[in-house]
Amino acid sequence: MSEEGGDVVRRERFSGGPARGFLSSMDADERLFEADLAVDRAHVVMLTEQGIVDDESASTILNALADVEATGYAALDGEDIHAAIETAVIERTGNEGGRMHTARSRNDEVATCIRYRLREDLLDASETTLVLREALVEAARAHAETTMPGYTHRQPAQPTTVGHFLSSYAQALGRDTDRLLEAYDRTNRSPLGAAAFAGTPFDIDRERTADLLGFDAVLGNSMDAVSTRNFLVEAASALATLSVTLSGLATDLVEFATDEYVEIDDDYASTSSIMPQKKNPDTLELVRASAGTASAGLNGLLTTLKGLPRAYNRDLQEATPHIWSAIDGVVPATEVAAGAVATASWNESELAAAAGNGFATATGVADLLAMHGVPFRTAHEIVASAAQCAADRTSGETASRAAEEGADYAAVEAAAQEVLDDSLSAYVEHEAVEAALDPDASVASRDSVGGPAPSAVAAVLDEMEDGIEDDQELLAERREGLATAERALEAEVDEYA
Ligand code: ARG
Repeated sequence: MSEEGGDVVRRERFSGGPARGFLSSMDADERLFEADLAVDRAHVVMLTEQGIVDDESASTILNALADVEATGYAALDGEDIHAAIETAVIERTGNEGGRMHTARSRNDEVATCIRYRLREDLLDASETTLVLREALVEAARAHAETTMPGYTHRQPAQPTTVGHFLSSYAQALGRDTDRLLEAYDRTNRSPLGAAAFAGTPFDIDRERTADLLGFDAVLGNSMDAVSTRNFLVEAASALATLSVTLSGLATDLVEFATDEYVEIDDDYASTSSIMPQKKNPDTLELVRASAGTASAGLNGLLTTLKGLPRAYNRDLQEATPHIWSAIDGVVPATEVAAGAVATASWNESELAAAAGNGFATATGVADLLAMHGVPFRTAHEIVASAAQCAADRTSGETASRAAEEGADYAAVEAAAQEVLDDSLSAYVEHEAVEAALDPDASVASRDSVGGPAPSAVAAVLDEMEDGIEDDQELLAERREGLATAERALEAEVDEYA
């Protein structure tokens, strides 16, 4: 905002001075331009219906608002968007425009505007989670039988499949969608009509403005209505949680790209300015970094809000931009992650070769022995000793998978003899042990609910597809609710044109 300009709220009294720029939220308020126009319109329509403002004044004000909208945000000047729009209306109408701010305060106005705008952002955020879930589920379907190494502590642990791995993120993202939609539902309540915090003697209709603006309910207590920003904390927390999911996915993909298990499409990679042979997964690293932005937003909000007394305090102005930065960090990151997943190509042969590395089928062999009467702890001991043998054997050399499996069998046999003082074949058939040592057969055997066996993954993917469809409907219902309200408000405003 300019250093000289004044607005109708401050007049000459606070129109200049060194702290004017400091006090202003005009730059961050660009995001609230459309919201404030809608809130002004709904408020004027309600005031007119209640007989607080007459039809003629209403039409003067509503026409001025249309002109302010057409002239755009850039033409405005004021301490904040609310004062700037009111000033611009009064410039066009003379004193009549001053009736617009009857029975309200900037405190309920700003709280309503933030909620109005954040609704859109939360729906956009939910939608991107759905796009990413779809990409993950589709790739998981295509790779339900692509065996790969699974890790704990980033050490090869047990073979799994690309489908099982990818759908693990799809499942986490399902909860991220839930959290965003829940945050939406609590955001979608109207503080308008709470005025400064203590209500108003005018006979206003808070339900009516809530309806005209598409809010599901009115926030009852007027002091809470203007004071609370915990809907921002909730939204930022949902975004931060989503960003943590994204950062895990990004790290896995970055590391798998390094291992040549996956190739990130050129559209999502970058090259070095000096090392022409390099293909860097920069976009995924930025996806990972969005967790920093989101968590900064959440922390900024919690720290700004902590200990604020009732009711309105100007600290609240400083809280708002934290949510916008969290949105602007996480939503594009989710979109990029979806694109990277949808276009990635998985290197099936490299993955298959690596799937049994590090005696990754050891747990399966222990399970097999336990199924054939060896106490699990003893079975664990046998396989641990065989694994040690395998590790000593393979350090520094690479053998074919088949050769390794033959050697692994011999190692298990020797260990069984030592621990049980009995031959392995007394407990379990040779072929069964061979199968347990084979990564594909090992994966196929783990068909408990949610396990990596292709049949188990397929069942979970079916549920996930249904879940995505359900969430798409929930999202569409909410979007339709907002669109209906927008049309209804437009029709009301047109009555006064
Ligand atoms: N721009 C301010 C905000 O974001 C508007 C509210 C000013 N209210 C007041 N009582 N000073 O919070």
